[in-house]
Amino acid sequence: MTDTALEQALLAVLADGAAHTERELVERLSMDPAALAQAVRALRDLGLEPRGLPSDGYRLAEPLELLDRQRIAAGLSDETRTRLSRLEVYPLLDSTNTYLLARAGEEWPGGAVCLAERQHAGRGRLRRSWVSPFGAGLFGSLLWRFDGQPAALSGLSLATGIAVARSLRALGVTEVGLKWPNDVLWRERKLGGILLESGASAGTLHVVAGIGLNVSLPRQAALAIDQPWVDLREILGVAGMSRNRLAALLINELVEIFGRFEQGGFADLAQEWAGFDLMAGRRVRLRLPNAAVTGIVRGVDASGALLLESADGRVNTYLGGEIGLRLEP
Ligand code: BTN
Repeated sequence: MTDTALEQALLAVLADGAAHTERELVERLSMDPAALAQAVRALRDLGLEPRGLPSDGYRLAEPLELLDRQRIAAGLSDETRTRLSRLEVYPLLDSTNTYLLARAGEEWPGGAVCLAERQHAGRGRLRRSWVSPFGAGLFGSLLWRFDGQPAALSGLSLATGIAVARSLRALGVTEVGLKWPNDVLWRERKLGGILLESGASAGTLHVVAGIGLNVSLPRQAALAIDQPWVDLREILGVAGMSRNRLAALLINELVEIFGRFEQGGFADLAQEWAGFDLMAGRRVRLRLPNAAVTGIVRGVDASGALLLESADGRVNTYLGGEIGLRLEP
């Protein structure tokens, strides 16, 4: 076995969260104690914490449900199966978005999904990084191809938010909501984010929709997050959550939403988005690249642009781009 295969094999045993003696591990994995120690160190480097026990064994800090391609595939709907061209699961990537953008350039067909247990260069909106420790979240991207002009994609990132919110509701996260354009929040704390990137290849427009959800963030890694955040572990408890189920729910909803968007654009989905809108009726400060405006949010229009009512009663529209939204103190 290669070093990586040994690490994966060790992880598969430790994932149950129970204590395993060194002797048991050496026997089960057919590795010598030195190779075991080396694999344990490698898992620590991945951000996992196999704890050495006084009784000469190891356990993870908590159980970990590893992403399993077969389990995810078993949860996909018939519609998803017909539209999905690939489903790939990796232990480590730089970024699932970067990966699929490169594959789009190689003319991969649309309908490709890629998930990673960990990203070492996960990217967020506004050129931020996205904290992506091993097994601590759901990090994934969908590649889709569209006919037509870039303007036809207006509102697609909001539509993606609907897919994410639907899948979280189905998992039991009843209070999930969206903050324009596409922050996924729970009680005003960030639970997930969406990063859409597009380009042209193979004679079509391609879009890579990347989604990051906090599942069980180690406190140390979370120190890098500069805003209030929450993870599914806090909302649902450890027993309430299966990353494989969440992945399947999310892929099903994404495929359904992207299929609908192809037909009718965002206009068909605007009403559903309003049902998840956490900002409607609230006074906010909207940060633009070189300025800021304040006003009361009046929802979004049929293209997904934000409607903001200023003090003089006029309603202005703001469309995508590098716009941030902060609640007025
Ligand atoms: C945000 O800043 O709110 C958007 C975060 C998007 C993160 C996801 S994780 C999977 C995909 N790969 C990336 O590098 N980014 C997106």
